[in-house]
Amino acid sequence: MANIPTLTFDAVIVGGGGAGMRASLQLAQEGLKVAVLTKVFPTRSHTVAAQGGIGASLGNMNDDNWHYHFFDTVKGSDWLGDQDAIEFMCREAPKVVYELEHMGMPFDRNPDGTIYQRPFGGHTSNYGEAPVQRACAAADRTGHALLHTLYQNNLRAGTQFFVEWIALDLIRDADGDVLGVVGMFLETGELAVFQAKATLFATGGAGRIYAASTNAYINTGDGLGMAARAGIPLQDMEFWQFHPTGVAGAGVLLTEGCRGEGAVLRNSKGERFMERYAPNLKDLAPRDFVSRSMDQEIKEGRGCGPNADYILLDMTHLGEAEIMKRLPSVHEIGLNFANVDCTQEPIPVVPTIHYQMGGIPTNIHGQVVAPKDGNPNAVVNGFYAIGECSCVSVHGANRLGTNSLLDLIVFGKAAGEHIVEQVRKSPAAHKSLPADAMDKTLARLSRLDNSKSGEYAQDIANDIRTTMQAHAGVFRTQKIMDEGVTKILELDKRVPHIHLKDNSQVFNTARIEALEVENLIEAAKATMLSAAARKESRGAHAHNDCPERDDENWMKHTLWFKDGNRLDYKPVQMKPLTVDSIPPKKRTF
Ligand code: FUM
Repeated sequence: MANIPTLTFDAVIVGGGGAGMRASLQLAQEGLKVAVLTKVFPTRSHTVAAQGGIGASLGNMNDDNWHYHFFDTVKGSDWLGDQDAIEFMCREAPKVVYELEHMGMPFDRNPDGTIYQRPFGGHTSNYGEAPVQRACAAADRTGHALLHTLYQNNLRAGTQFFVEWIALDLIRDADGDVLGVVGMFLETGELAVFQAKATLFATGGAGRIYAASTNAYINTGDGLGMAARAGIPLQDMEFWQFHPTGVAGAGVLLTEGCRGEGAVLRNSKGERFMERYAPNLKDLAPRDFVSRSMDQEIKEGRGCGPNADYILLDMTHLGEAEIMKRLPSVHEIGLNFANVDCTQEPIPVVPTIHYQMGGIPTNIHGQVVAPKDGNPNAVVNGFYAIGECSCVSVHGANRLGTNSLLDLIVFGKAAGEHIVEQVRKSPAAHKSLPADAMDKTLARLSRLDNSKSGEYAQDIANDIRTTMQAHAGVFRTQKIMDEGVTKILELDKRVPHIHLKDNSQVFNTARIEALEVENLIEAAKATMLSAAARKESRGAHAHNDCPERDDENWMKHTLWFKDGNRLDYKPVQMKPLTVDSIPPKKRTF
């Protein structure tokens, strides 16, 4: 490691979005030396795209409490979520939202000064009885407000940001302990080792494995790729959420908050068809349910437009004043991406990939867990993961809207607290880095930089995306998924042959894209293999040949291992922390 510097911290966090910055804030406020590596400026992280709100049972608008939130989340997850983690998240929710308020987050206000809350899909009072207003909102820019609040507070606390740095690989020693990461500065291509007592991934999802996605271009599953290469399994990757209202053709998100504020979905006959599929919650049923209903309408010939291939999101009846007050960004997105003034006309929408329910397995302290000596949840020392790259698992087979921002903040704080405790318990020096800490990274870079011929990264990335779009969509059949597995494994063989035409080090985006493709392919393989193996329908995994949920055989988490492309399973935690378990039953809305 002759010319490569080693920078030493108490904790290194990879990812400067909501989860990473909530954790770093906890650490910096406690006086720890903390580095945050982020591919983009922190306030441009993908959290900025979260529009509608953060879920917490504040009860500002109607009767609500964490038990209702807990019930909705378990039911929303189609009984794949771990009930201990779900209880923890729902109980913590009001506390962490008030903490954000006290940090200065500019929530919308009710006339009495309390935080404004809007209805969202699957949020109910009294255990499914009627919609409840639980989404704490800053207009339709909640993620934006959250990121700015956290960034400002981190600056005050002294967090050290490494902006436009990408992490390339985890460093593990012979004991399996994680000792840091290798990072690269995008501007110059220079490398550094970030050595730490705790390494925390908050790298976001891999939504860019799909062709049509609400996700930012940076969401290439970097944390998943690094974890998989380091021998950590990926959990429940077959479960991908399609958001019902992506702008048709553009993929840009139109918040579920539109329907929370009263917008409705219509087919080509002008029917409000969700009344047929979900008589109680209608347009505010959970996302898996609404997306499938939309797809069904399109399949049965009631889609809109010249090709009958989209649905209309109609909010014209809300009136211009209400739209401009509650949904100003939606108005702007309608104009810019659909050429539609949503105060006058409905916007064409289609279900669009939005969120990865699976990820790196963790416990409620954010510690990464993996099978060892018969224990499916053995802690990997020194390694933490939070937010969309992780699977704790609070979302199970289908996430409720607004539970993602909540997940970032609850587990960001919890992981931060746990790291502080661990670092204080063992103040001794850092473990020594293994002599071969850089070897795998240097070999990857050398192969790329010295390639003389081969394929362009963007061609392989595009093939991954079209394959995933066609073979792991809203509805899946065994044949389609099996073909998807074959195609993805063929693509996997092409990745080592990526060729760089220009191998300069300075802000070489083609070089970065090539490195990102090595992460995309791991997320795609995990998704395709896990999906083809699950012979049931649950949450977002809708298997046409096995249309029912099968609790007897499939109420279990999938674990995919890169090594040998192997699958394993572990039980769902049905026992909450303090209350009675919610027993499985059929999901109707
Ligand atoms: O629809 C939305 O505003 C998205 C929120 C979420 O994914 O939680």
